[in-house]
Amino acid sequence: MVMTLVMQLMLLLLLPVTRVSAQEQQQPPQQVVRPSCRDKCGNITIPYPFGIGAGCFRNDGRGGFELECNDSRSTPRLTVAGNGIRITSLSIITSEARALLRATRRCYDSKGRITGRSGDTSVPLIGSHYLFSQARNRLVALGCSNLGYFVDAAGYYVSGCMAVCGPQHFIELGSCTGVACCQSTIPPAIDYYEPYVLDFTKEQTDKGIVSYSNSTTCRYVFLAETKWLTTTLTGKSEYLNRTNNFAVPVILDWAVRNVGNCSAAKRNTTDYACQSALSDCVDSKNGNGYQCNCSKGYEGNPYLQDGCRDIDECKRKEEQPCYGVCANTLGSHTCQCPPGTSGDATTKTGCRPKDNFTLALKVVTGVSVGVFLPLFMCFWLYLGLQKRKLIRTKQMFFELNGGLFLQQQISNYNGTSTGTGGFKIFSKEELEKATSNFAADRILGRGGHGIVYKGDLEDKTVVAIKKSKMTEEVPTKEFAREMFILSQINHKNVVKLLGCCLEVEVPMLVYEFVSNGTLYQYIHGSRGLDSDTGFHTCLRIAVESAEALAYMHSSASPPILHGDVKTANILLDDKLTAKVSDFGASKLAPTDEAQMATLVQGTCGYLDPEYLMTCRLTDKSDVYSFGVVLLELLTRKKALYFDGPEEDRSLVLCFMMAVKVGQHQDLLDSQVRDEMRIEALEEITHLVMRCLNMSGEERPTMKEVAERLEMLRRYHHHPWAQADANPEEEQSLLAME
Ligand SMILES: *[C@@H]1O[C@H](CO)[C@@H](O)[C@H](O)[C@H]1NC(C)=O
Ligand SMILES: *[C@@H]1O[C@H](CO)[C@@H](O)[C@H](O)[C@H]1NC(C)=O
Ligand SMILES: *[C@@H]1O[C@H](CO)[C@@H](O)[C@H](O)[C@H]1NC(C)=O
Ligand SMILES: *[C@@H]1O[C@H](CO)[C@@H](O)[C@H](O)[C@H]1NC(C)=O
Ligand SMILES: *[C@@H]1O[C@H](CO)[C@@H](O)[C@H](O)[C@H]1NC(C)=O
Ligand SMILES: *[C@@H]1O[C@H](CO)[C@@H](O)[C@H](O)[C@H]1NC(C)=O
Ligand SMILES: *[C@@H]1O[C@H](CO)[C@@H](O)[C@H](O)[C@H]1NC(C)=O
Repeated sequence: MVMTLVMQLMLLLLLPVTRVSAQEQQQPPQQVVRPSCRDKCGNITIPYPFGIGAGCFRNDGRGGFELECNDSRSTPRLTVAGNGIRITSLSIITSEARALLRATRRCYDSKGRITGRSGDTSVPLIGSHYLFSQARNRLVALGCSNLGYFVDAAGYYVSGCMAVCGPQHFIELGSCTGVACCQSTIPPAIDYYEPYVLDFTKEQTDKGIVSYSNSTTCRYVFLAETKWLTTTLTGKSEYLNRTNNFAVPVILDWAVRNVGNCSAAKRNTTDYACQSALSDCVDSKNGNGYQCNCSKGYEGNPYLQDGCRDIDECKRKEEQPCYGVCANTLGSHTCQCPPGTSGDATTKTGCRPKDNFTLALKVVTGVSVGVFLPLFMCFWLYLGLQKRKLIRTKQMFFELNGGLFLQQQISNYNGTSTGTGGFKIFSKEELEKATSNFAADRILGRGGHGIVYKGDLEDKTVVAIKKSKMTEEVPTKEFAREMFILSQINHKNVVKLLGCCLEVEVPMLVYEFVSNGTLYQYIHGSRGLDSDTGFHTCLRIAVESAEALAYMHSSASPPILHGDVKTANILLDDKLTAKVSDFGASKLAPTDEAQMATLVQGTCGYLDPEYLMTCRLTDKSDVYSFGVVLLELLTRKKALYFDGPEEDRSLVLCFMMAVKVGQHQDLLDSQVRDEMRIEALEEITHLVMRCLNMSGEERPTMKEVAERLEMLRRYHHHPWAQADANPEEEQSLLAME
């Protein structure tokens, strides 16, 4: 379809822009003769080169074109000057003349004596422009028994035939086939005719020819137009016994015969007969010579200078049918369907209503389709390739990130136990949908490791999605293992890891959503400790956090370390329950040197100095960091603060200096000082100092920290009950220094 449209476009461009307008001006009446010459004799038109009178016919030395007209007769008689041949019609188009020649007649009596004869004269056309037409004439012998023939100028036999007497039915059924009438064709280029009649009497009849004895009275021989022979003579028996004279039409081929052919004629322009510029020269088909013909699309008299005129084809519906809008052009015409239709206007039902899809529209559409289809295909292909690439990339990351291992682990786990598993591997699309394509208004917070988004899953679960920053580390199967272990942790004070997405370069982690912000915000933010909640809430949060860390340290082997314990990583839910988050960022306790070499991670102010020195993250590193958290709770000061003098910027250093000089009470938050008993304060200060010990070995385990804090909490809540119920503990509390 595209090709046809393109072709149509090309055709449109190739079509001539200007169209020859039809000649509408009035033409003078068609001239067939030279000016001031007779054009008729009776009802016979005389076209040039024929003519009557000097200067009216073509005179090239040969006779034939000069005619004479005897008007004194009842019907004017047209004859060829010089030989008197009677002409009844002339045609320029067919280059024929119809002459009327008398039949040659012989009549006999019963004894075989000639009783009458006529028409014995020869018809000489030698040297004229005429020849007997071979195609349209026959030699006929009529009457029986009769041998009719004719000879040429030299007296040689040219053509003849014999008619014998026969049964009637042959005469009537046959059409001049030998019984009482016979015919013969004649050779071409015959310019002389001299007829003969030979009577075959009874006596002369040979035994071989069985003939009826009764013969016709008169015998004839004549040249006749073939058409006349078939229409007038055939089957008409009255011609057989006729005795009178009659004339028969004969066709003469005329041509300009003073030159042999067109190529010769064209050499002498003054003599050249085809005077019209819009004419062609045609070699004569019969004998030497040539004739002229108006060019195609023109008609008239080519022998005259302005003889050929354009044919208005639109006025000749029979020859050039046109059922649409016909427009004549010089030498031709156009025939188009009326506006709004299309098709073939030269047939009656050729034009059909056009669709509104016009040619211009087709062209535009064709071009558009032609141009845009390949573009579209390319684009489509490109998209397809991109998509495949994307899928491949996703699959690659999935495998790199240990997705297969994780999948296997999950299925193993789900298969072997009735576990609460619940861990899911999310697709990239799921998470994109859940976070409205990681929209800015979904950001919950930014951390050193990445950005955390709030997400709504399909099942209406609200989750926190952590999108880590790019790291140069190559994700390994280790990561997947970590993911798996973390997913198995089910502690009320640990933010639950619900799943992950491995189809991206840096895996995304999906956590349960904790609604009430971080402990950092709680302490330092607008909604700080107030009288309603008081320090006992802080203490509970500390206990819960410690328990969570202790649980992590003891639940698995090797222990799961946090590595980045800080107030900002302790989340609070609506009941202000602590939930330790971001275990995902930590490493499992390193087992080989390669892992030990990994970059030190963590947050300034909370970092274990020993870890900094050894690059070895231990459970005691978490204890140190937790010590800082406790300190933050007690003092309501940030781990690093930049508003004080330079030496006071580190909370830990500040506090240690204060403890040395016994002024640490001044650093504590006023509310804490007010609410806590002095011995409890001392106990907790002691615990903090142990946690912050430079040597990891000297630090208590997380379990111990949790237990001691729990005791302090109970003591703080019910100091009297505690004292009564557990004197041992009281003792230990007081025996701390
Ligand atoms: C010319 O007139 C004759 C008789 O007057 C008639 O037979 C013949 O058909 C006419 N020819 C033409 C071409 O009209
Ligand atoms: C014209 O025909 C008439 C009658 O046949 C004849 O008498 C006369 O001589 C003819 N004229 C010419 C010029 O042949
Ligand atoms: C010739 O004579 C026979 C009888 O002798 C007759 O039957 C036949 O019709 C005659 N034919 C003609 C053409 O007169
Ligand atoms: C010619 O002969 C037939 C019989 O054969 C006859 O009927 C007819 O009248 C004759 N015609 C003439 C003109 O003699
Ligand atoms: C045309 O006639 C000339 C002489 O009249 C002759 O030499 C030439 O061969 C002829 N050409 C053709 C094509 O018959
Ligand atoms: C051309 O034809 C004219 C008239 O027939 C004649 O007088 C002349 O000699 C011819 N010219 C040539 C070059 O044959
Ligand atoms: C003359 O031209 C007409 C129309 O173009 C054509 O039909 C005819 O056959 C031509 N005659 C000859 C003799 O070529």
